[in-house]
Amino acid sequence: MPKTLKKIVVILLIIIAAGALVYGCSAIAFEIVISQPSGEQAALSEWNLILVNNHYYIPKGYDVKLTELSNGQKVDERIYPDLQEMFDDMRAEGIYPFVREGFRTADEQKAILKEFISGHLDEGCNIFEAYDLTRKAAAAVGNSEHQLGIAVDINADIDKCEAWDVYNWLDANAYKYGFILRYPSDKTEITETIYEPWHYRYVGKEAAKEIYEEKLCLEEYISRKQS
Ligand code: DAL
Ligand code: ZN
Repeated sequence: MPKTLKKIVVILLIIIAAGALVYGCSAIAFEIVISQPSGEQAALSEWNLILVNNHYYIPKGYDVKLTELSNGQKVDERIYPDLQEMFDDMRAEGIYPFVREGFRTADEQKAILKEFISGHLDEGCNIFEAYDLTRKAAAAVGNSEHQLGIAVDINADIDKCEAWDVYNWLDANAYKYGFILRYPSDKTEITETIYEPWHYRYVGKEAAKEIYEEKLCLEEYISRKQS
């Protein structure tokens, strides 16, 4: 091989190796960042009132006993009776909900974050913008109520009714069964999460009634209880 060509090949190989190293390191760094919970460990309060958000992550070793629903989704067994009663009453009124997502593992939460991030990257965001936008809609790993098993994303069976039939019914009635709209449209500054008309969080009937009647979000209710 002529000397000049050899030099070019060596330089190209060095560039490729350096590129692979940088890519490999940033992929590892990304994996580490995305696997970390944010904030500090949540206080172990009553199980139904545990506050998990961007500032408080699920206590290490948190134990949850799950009940499997007919569609394979799982929820904390303690919320199942009220959830079932709520769904029975909705169906009796001609509204057909289903749990699109209940309990999530840490790996499932991480996969959701990655999916959202890659969607935003495809839209042209840089990695920082993509991460920031994602975190307004999906919690960090360890900071999602879905990992507690006491939050459910409830959607409509669209063969039988409209999405907003379900969301409106839940908005008006879920509190009677112990569930609250966790991310209301007028509380996004506090929850740091976009409005999610499908995401309901079990807090028990007493707390849900007060939260509903006083138009609070969970953060406000907990800080009111603590003061
Ligand atoms: N979508 C909510 C914030 C979650 O990921 O838990
Ligand atoms: Zn949700």
